[in-house]
Amino acid sequence: MAASVVRGVDKINATARHKCIARSLLRRSFSSSMNLNKALVLGVYENDSSDSIDFTGTAKKFNEKVDGKIAELLLRVKKPLKGGKTRTLHGLDSEFSSVTVTCIGKKEEGYDELETVDKGRESIRAAVAKAVLELRELGENEIEVDPCGDTEASAEGCHLALFSYDELKAVKNRKPTVTVSCASRFSQDKGNIEKGWKKGIILADGQNLSRRLMEMPANLLTPTKFADIVKEQLSSKCEVIVRDKAWAESMKMGSFLSVARGSVEPPVFLEIEYKGKQSETPIALVGKGVTFDSGGISIKPSQGMDAMRGDMGGAACVAGTLHSISRLELPVHVKAFIPLCENMPSGSATKPGDVVTAMNGKTIQVDNTDAEGRLILADALCYSQQFNPSLILDMATLTGAIDVALGAGAAGVFTNSATMWDKLQQASIRTGDRVWRMPLFNHYTKKITKCQLADLNNIGGGRSAGACTAAAFLKEFVTNKNWLHLDIAGVMSNEGAVSYLGKGMSGRPTRTITEFINIISKESQ
Ligand code: BES
Ligand code: ZN
Ligand code: ZN
Repeated sequence: MAASVVRGVDKINATARHKCIARSLLRRSFSSSMNLNKALVLGVYENDSSDSIDFTGTAKKFNEKVDGKIAELLLRVKKPLKGGKTRTLHGLDSEFSSVTVTCIGKKEEGYDELETVDKGRESIRAAVAKAVLELRELGENEIEVDPCGDTEASAEGCHLALFSYDELKAVKNRKPTVTVSCASRFSQDKGNIEKGWKKGIILADGQNLSRRLMEMPANLLTPTKFADIVKEQLSSKCEVIVRDKAWAESMKMGSFLSVARGSVEPPVFLEIEYKGKQSETPIALVGKGVTFDSGGISIKPSQGMDAMRGDMGGAACVAGTLHSISRLELPVHVKAFIPLCENMPSGSATKPGDVVTAMNGKTIQVDNTDAEGRLILADALCYSQQFNPSLILDMATLTGAIDVALGAGAAGVFTNSATMWDKLQQASIRTGDRVWRMPLFNHYTKKITKCQLADLNNIGGGRSAGACTAAAFLKEFVTNKNWLHLDIAGVMSNEGAVSYLGKGMSGRPTRTITEFINIISKESQ
C-alpha cells in the first residue's frame, strides 16, 4: 500500500519532513493499537434506483467484508446518492472508525465534447477530494482511498485537495497532517493500481509545488529565493544554473533588465535542464517569473495588489512541471528558461516612453510599465532559441484581458502549430485542467508594430483584445515553428471554480503541461 503524507506542501526542509513522518508513524502505531483515526473512502456510481447500490469494485469487496452493512445502511435512506454527495458511516468494522461513501457520478461518464473534458476522471477527483476533506475535518488522519476505477485521478483528487499553504502559521493553526494511501488490497490488479496511484501523486505534487511557490509572499519569495527553492527541489534530477544580472547584461537582455531596474532585488535568470534522453533538440519551457508586479511607474491600484505575488505563476508552473516529469523519469530532454525579477517603481525604474533593446536587436517603446511580462519573456524566448528546441512552450500570467475572456474556465493558448494544439488539448481533456485556443492574427501584430519611437510598442494601443496583442508582441521574438504561448492570468487563482483545489493560487496548468510532455515523449520513442 503506497502511503504518502500530505500536509499540503512537498516539504522544503528535510528536518521538517522527518519530523512530519515521525509524527505520522507515531500516530499510526497509536491508531493501530486503539483503532482510532483510520478511515476509508469508498466510491459508488450514481443510479436512480432506491433499492440497489452500484458499488465500485473496491467498495463491493468491502461491503461483502462487512456483511452487506454498507448497502443496508445506505438503502435505509430513500434518496439515492447523487454525484458529488457523500455519506459517512461509523462503527462498521474494527479497522476503520469512519467509512465515507462518495458518489463518483454516472458509470458511463467519459469525454464530454462541449465541456472538453473527461468527466469520469473529473468526477472521481472531485468525489474523493470531498471525502478526504470531510474525514480530515472529523479528525481522521490515516485514510485509505478507493482507486475508483481510475487510480491516478483518485490520487490526484486527494493530494490536491489536502494541500494547504499554512507553513507561516503557528502549528496549532495549521491543517492537521493526513496520511493517504490507496485501498489496493481489495483489488486483483494491485501492481497497476499502485503504479497509477504513484503517478497521480507525482502529478499532484508537481502542481502543489507550483501552488506553494505562487502563494508565498513576495518578501520571502524574491528572485534569489525562488532560485534557491528550485535548486533544493529539482537539483537531484535536473541541472540548475542560476545566472545573475551581469550575465543578462552580457547577453544583451535589455528588455528583461528594463523591468528589473526599478527594484533593489537583483534579477535572476534560471536555466534548468532535465535530460531523460539524449537529444539535440530539447523541448523549451519558458515561464514568466515576476515575483511581484506593482505595475512599476504605471502603478496598479492598491486593491487586490497582493495577488501580484502570484505573477511568477508561469515560472512556478515550469518548476512544477519539471518536478513531475523528472520524478516520472519521462524519456524527454527539456530545457527551461525562467527570467525572475520584481516590477517596482523607483528612481531607477523604467519610465513610460522609454525605449529599450531586446536580445534580438528589436527596439521597444515601453508605453506602460505594467505590461512587463512580455518584456521579460521577449529576451527569454530569444535566448531559448539558441538551443535549437523542437518546440517552445511559454506560460505567463500575462494579461487581465485573458481573465475577462475566459475567466478560470481555461488557460488561453496562442500557437502557430495546429499539431501542438491538438496534443495540448488532448492532455487537458485527461487532466481536467482546460485550455482554449486563441488567435494570433496579423490584425493584432499591426497594433504593436505601430510605434512612434521604436520597432514595437508594448501595449498595442487601445483596450481591445489585450491578451491577443500581448501574444502578438511575443510572436515578434519567436522564429520556431512549434510555439505555444499560454496566458494563465485567468486561472492563476481558484475562487471555487475547481472543487478539488482549495481557495488560493491554483498551480494551473502544471498537470496539463506534464501530460502534454508525456504525450510527446511517447510519440517520439
Ligand atoms: N501581471 C499582470 C496581469 C495579471 C492580471 C495577472 C491579473 C494576473 C491577474 C500584467 O503584468 C499586467 O499588468 N498586464 C496589464 C497589461 C496592460 C497594461 C496592457 C493588464 O492586463 O492590465
Ligand atoms: Zn504588469
Ligand atoms: Zn505582470
